[in-house]
Amino acid sequence: MPLTVEQRSPLPMGELSDHTRAPGLSRVEAHGSRLLLTWDDDSQAPFPLIWLRDHCACPECRHPQTRERLYLPQEAPDEAVEVEVENGNLTVHWANGHLSHFDGGWLHQRRPGSLPSDAVPKRQPWEEGFSPVRVDHGDFTAGVAGERDWLTALLRDGLVLLEKGPLADEEVSRLAERIGPLRPTNFGARFDVRSKPNPNNAAYTAIALALHTDLPNWRQPPDIQLLYCLENGAEGGESIFADGFAAAECLRQSSPEAFRLLSETPIDFRFQDENHDLAWRAPVIALDEAGNVIEVRLNNWIRDSLRLPVETIDAWYAAYRHFWQRVHAPQHRLEFTLAPGEMVAFDNRRVLHGRNAFDPNSGRRHLQGTYLDLDMCESRLRVLARQA
Ligand code: OGA
Ligand code: ZN
Ligand code: ZN
Repeated sequence: MPLTVEQRSPLPMGELSDHTRAPGLSRVEAHGSRLLLTWDDDSQAPFPLIWLRDHCACPECRHPQTRERLYLPQEAPDEAVEVEVENGNLTVHWANGHLSHFDGGWLHQRRPGSLPSDAVPKRQPWEEGFSPVRVDHGDFTAGVAGERDWLTALLRDGLVLLEKGPLADEEVSRLAERIGPLRPTNFGARFDVRSKPNPNNAAYTAIALALHTDLPNWRQPPDIQLLYCLENGAEGGESIFADGFAAAECLRQSSPEAFRLLSETPIDFRFQDENHDLAWRAPVIALDEAGNVIEVRLNNWIRDSLRLPVETIDAWYAAYRHFWQRVHAPQHRLEFTLAPGEMVAFDNRRVLHGRNAFDPNSGRRHLQGTYLDLDMCESRLRVLARQA
């Protein structure tokens, strides 16, 4: 008779995520260096003894406060002298007298070769007509659901809006700090985007900013950018965005040679002012080992001198132009005017952003911005999912 979830007695395994709702064990059979486990839902999986010894959750093997592993895998594992299933859980008696208890549901979630379930969504490319999720500032700050919806949309779509926020100085920092520490750059941990007298950056003028990613001249550009609108009374200054990954995929289809060149050829990016000279060399499109696009670096005003072998230069410019056209194609483009009290957040290493020129004599435009690490956004979403 399978045990119901209520009859199971879940064992603490030093995990904060839930394993009490996974099925319990019904049977164990020893087969040489493996145990064959069977669960109440009839699923089965072999577990090597060495894996089980390494994952013992007793206070000697896993620190009871930090939940981190103490067991050192230096010695050959002991043999198991006795194994039993009771109340849906597994007990292993090792030859040296050590005793390990494993929660059956916890083991089910960790069947060899399975992937962890994760609250962090997969990235989804923008379809034509993509319209970003909007979350009320009040819902974001009220509890779990608003912030969770906002983070889910940000990580899935690469862009999300917050609306109906207060017109308060530094609100962007307060919102960001709910998620993680602000990521500082040469422009500070928090920056003001408005037209300034002696600008050291195109963003601090009133000119149009073509679609770009911020700080590709850093080894690790900031992951997530937040731009909070405090004033937007000037004529022009509409925000524009494009899904860089979707545009890169389009390029891969339409101009495979251009895609190859941009993904295989590192170029130089560089920012200089009185106090800084920040330079990095990387391709415009970065791929992982499987060929998936994992990063776009496009910022035409901090692209440094092009230092390529002479026979590659013409082809590189042609490829860059092709990609530029894909990025600016209407089907990838999103344009809207940020209203005061609205904040846009986006994945700076995936989604390109820009703005139309504005007329500083027609009114004031003031955004406050900061950056966050993607790791902290994912972490926060997993923590919120525990409370769901
Ligand atoms: C920036 C930027 C966009 C805007 O500050 O990096 O691109 O709308 N600003 O002013
Ligand atoms: Zn142990
Ligand atoms: Zn920018």
